[in-house]
Amino acid sequence: MPIDSLYSVRMRAESGGRHLSGAERIVACNAVDAAVDELIARAGAKSRAPERIIVTIDSLGLATPRRFAALDVITVHAADAETGRAAASRVLQRAGVADAAAAAAMRSLTNGAASSGGNMRGAMIMDSKTGERLEPDRERGVRVTRFDWTDGAREATERVLSEQGLTHVRIREALALATAVAHAPGVVAELCWSDDADYTAGYVASLKTGYVRFPFLKQAGDARGGRAIFVDRSVCDVSELLHHLQSEVVLVDAAGKCARAVDVESYFGRMS
Ligand code: COA
Ligand code: AMP
Repeated sequence: MPIDSLYSVRMRAESGGRHLSGAERIVACNAVDAAVDELIARAGAKSRAPERIIVTIDSLGLATPRRFAALDVITVHAADAETGRAAASRVLQRAGVADAAAAAAMRSLTNGAASSGGNMRGAMIMDSKTGERLEPDRERGVRVTRFDWTDGAREATERVLSEQGLTHVRIREALALATAVAHAPGVVAELCWSDDADYTAGYVASLKTGYVRFPFLKQAGDARGGRAIFVDRSVCDVSELLHHLQSEVVLVDAAGKCARAVDVESYFGRMS
C-alpha cells in the first residue's frame, strides 16, 4: 500500500448494547496509530464508561476526497427552545425549505423521529417541498460518514470558533458533518439537535445560510433529538444522495468565518 493512501478510522462506543458515542478520522497510513489512540481516548472521556469500544480501519484505496471550506458560523441567541425552533424554521425557509416541510421535521424531532417513536440512529431525509420522508429505514436513518478536517483547517477552525467562545468539540465535529451534508447534491438544508439530554444547542445549516447555531432548540433534560436533511428531488435522486452521504470522502480543508453572536431580531433584520 503506498504511504500516502488514506484510511478511514472510525470509533463507536456502547454499553449494554446502547450506542454511547462515535467519532471518525480520515488520515494517512502513517497517522493511523495516532488516530486510533485519539479516538479511544475520546470514547473513554464520556461520563459513562463504555463496555465495548469498536474501532474500524478501512483503506480508502484510490478515492479522491472532495474538498470544501467549512461553512461560516453564526450563533443566534434565542432565549428558549420555543423561540429557537421558531427562528430555526425561518432560517430553513430562507434556505429554501417549504414551511410544511420545516414543520414536519420539527414535529418528528420533537416526538421521536424513529418509527418506534424514539431517536433514530441516523438522519431523516425529507423532501424539501413536501416534508415526505425518504430514508429507506425509519429506525436507522442515514449516517453521514467518511469526513474529516485537514490538520490545518482543524486548527484554524478551533481558533476562529474559540474567539467567539465556542470551544465544545461537538461544534467542530457537527460543523464538519454539516459542511459535508450541505455540499452533497440536491441538499437544500439540514436541521439538527442532539439526543444528549444535557446538550440543548442545535443548528440549521445550508450553503445559503451557513451554519446557524441556536443555544436552545430543546429543553435541558430532553433526550429526544436527531437530524433532518432536506433534499430537492428535481436536482438529485435519493439513491445518489445516499451514496454521497454514506460513501463519498470529504475533507474540510479551510476554516470559514465565525461571526459574533446576535439576537433573533438582528439576525433577521440584517438579512432582510
Ligand atoms: N447512533 C446509534 N447507533 C449507532 C450510531 C449512532 N450515531 N452509530 C453507529 N451505531 C450502531 C448501530 O447499531 C449501527 O448499526 P446500523 O447501521 O444498523 O444502524 C452499528 O453501530 C454499526 O454502525 P456503523 O455505521 O457501521 O459503524 P462505523 O464504525 O462504520 O461508524 C460512526 C460509526 C459513529 C463513527 C459513524 O457512523 C458516524 O456517525 N460518523 C460521524 C461521527 C461524527 O463526527 N459525528 C458528529 C456528530 S456532532
Ligand atoms: P448527536 O449530534 O451526535 O447528538 O446526534 C444527534 C442525532 O443525529 C442522533 O440522534 C442521530 O439521529 C443523528 N446522527 C448521529 N450520527 C449521525 C451521522 N453520522 N449522520 C447523520 N445523522 C446522525
